[in-house]
Amino acid sequence: MTERRVLRMGDPVLGRVSAPVTAFSTEALARLIEDLWDTMAALGGIGLAAPQIGVAQRVVVFGLDEPSREPDIAPIAPTVLINPTITPLNGSMETGWEGCLSVPGMRGLVPRYTRIRYCGADERGEAIEREVEGYHARVVQHECDHLDGILYPQRMPDLRLFGFEQELAVAALSGE
Ligand code: NI
Repeated sequence: MTERRVLRMGDPVLGRVSAPVTAFSTEALARLIEDLWDTMAALGGIGLAAPQIGVAQRVVVFGLDEPSREPDIAPIAPTVLINPTITPLNGSMETGWEGCLSVPGMRGLVPRYTRIRYCGADERGEAIEREVEGYHARVVQHECDHLDGILYPQRMPDLRLFGFEQELAVAALSGE
C-alpha cells in the first residue's frame, strides 16, 4: 500500500499535457496504477489522474462503489482508463458541483457534457469503449482534463460559485 503525495493547484506539473502510454502490462505501469488506487482510497476520492501524483502519463482511475456516499448517484465500476478520448454524444451540458483532491476543501459549479462516449485502454492494452451519462460522464471529463493540464476551476464560467466547502454548505442552508 503506497499512498503518494497529491500535488495541489499551483504546482506546475498539474498544468502540463501528459504523454501517452506506449507500453502495457509492464511492472512500472502496474505500480503506477496500484499507487493511484491506494492514494485515491486513502483520501476518499472518486477518481485520480497520474499527473496528480506527479507522473505525466495519460492514465486515470475512477470508481464509486458506495452509492450511500453520493445519494441518487449510481455506482461506477472501478476503471483504469489509459490514453482516453472523449466524444460528446450531443451538445447538451449541465452544471454540477465538483471537487478535486488537488484543490482540497473547495467546490465549484462546473458545466460538463451530459452524455459522452469514452474510449481508451485498460492496463493490459485491451480496448475500452463506453457510452455514459450524468455523474459518470462528469467524473470521466474531470479526470481526463487532468491529462491536458486542466483543473476544474478553469472550466467554470462563474467563479462566484467557487468556494470553500464549509462556506458553500452554510450558504446553501441559509438559502443564499
Ligand atoms: Ni481532480
